[in-house]
Amino acid sequence: MIPVIDLAAARSGSAADRLRIGQQIDRICREIGFFSITGHGVPLALMDGLRDTAKTFFAQPLAVKQRAIHPVQGTPRGYIALGVEALAYGNGATTPPDLKEYYHFGRQHWPDQPYYTSAEGQRYFLPNLWPEHPPGFAAAAAAYYAAMEALTQDLMRIAALGLGIDEYFFDDKIDRHITAMRLNHYPEQAMPPAPGQLRAGTHTDYGLLTILNGEDVPGGLQVQTRAGAWLDVPTQPENFVINIGDLLMRWTNDRWVSNPHRVVNPPAEAARSRRLSIAFFHHPNYDALIECIAPPGEARYAPVLSGAYRDEKYRQTRLASAQAQPEEPPAC
Ligand code: OGA
Ligand code: NI
Repeated sequence: MIPVIDLAAARSGSAADRLRIGQQIDRICREIGFFSITGHGVPLALMDGLRDTAKTFFAQPLAVKQRAIHPVQGTPRGYIALGVEALAYGNGATTPPDLKEYYHFGRQHWPDQPYYTSAEGQRYFLPNLWPEHPPGFAAAAAAYYAAMEALTQDLMRIAALGLGIDEYFFDDKIDRHITAMRLNHYPEQAMPPAPGQLRAGTHTDYGLLTILNGEDVPGGLQVQTRAGAWLDVPTQPENFVINIGDLLMRWTNDRWVSNPHRVVNPPAEAARSRRLSIAFFHHPNYDALIECIAPPGEARYAPVLSGAYRDEKYRQTRLASAQAQPEEPPAC
């Protein structure tokens, strides 16, 4: 079973409540690294609004969706069609492409300061690309993004309490975060998948916390336990599923686990079922140095820069055919 945490007491409660919930998260993240939250305070209308808008976009003919492909190939913005990504490559496996299409976007506005506008900043702060239709896509995405920013800031403070470090330790490493979001659409499967082909191949996420809002339909999310078994992860549309990414695993020196997960195909009798998920991949400031918080001498990983780590993962998971391009693509 995937644990469920009610965040209400931590959001409005005393220091003791925050510490208790932080410690609960600590226990879960040492074991499975996946939990779902209730009492998060995010209005359901915000989730439903973005989900409905995304469904309207993906329901359009391919030729219409293709107009939202970024003109510079490999740029992580706009529409990404089926066949372009295989997430399992990021964890060293070779599989057919994932059976999904997605819409990639990030922050909508940022200050006119060198951190954002310098040559390096521009590699992570890329203008979003929005289609003409459906109207309101950009607004629904920006509202959702803002709600996730507030939630992750608080969650990282509660996480710090659970790790036994200063509550505000992460604040100045995430205050100019480079989080990207994806709207994943797993279409109906008119043809049986190829051997080894999944909606999303086995992978770990790259950042700190992934916050996922999904729907419970056939062909959903599964996480691997430390013993190797696959567990179904319920993804009710009113809750969020949270999992730990690689950078938080490295930062905590493996105390918390970034667990392999995947999205399986629906059974043959439900092959026509589609699934939409909304993923917020919370990622620190690009110049944050992820250096283990364990006592000196115990580090299992060399320090790594937040932005460079993600650049490499994006490069690995973009399939070879899509990589055949002359110029170096932007990095986030
Ligand atoms: C992902 C992912 C799960 C889902 O996009 O990294 O794991 O349920 N998605 O869509
Ligand atoms: Ni994932």
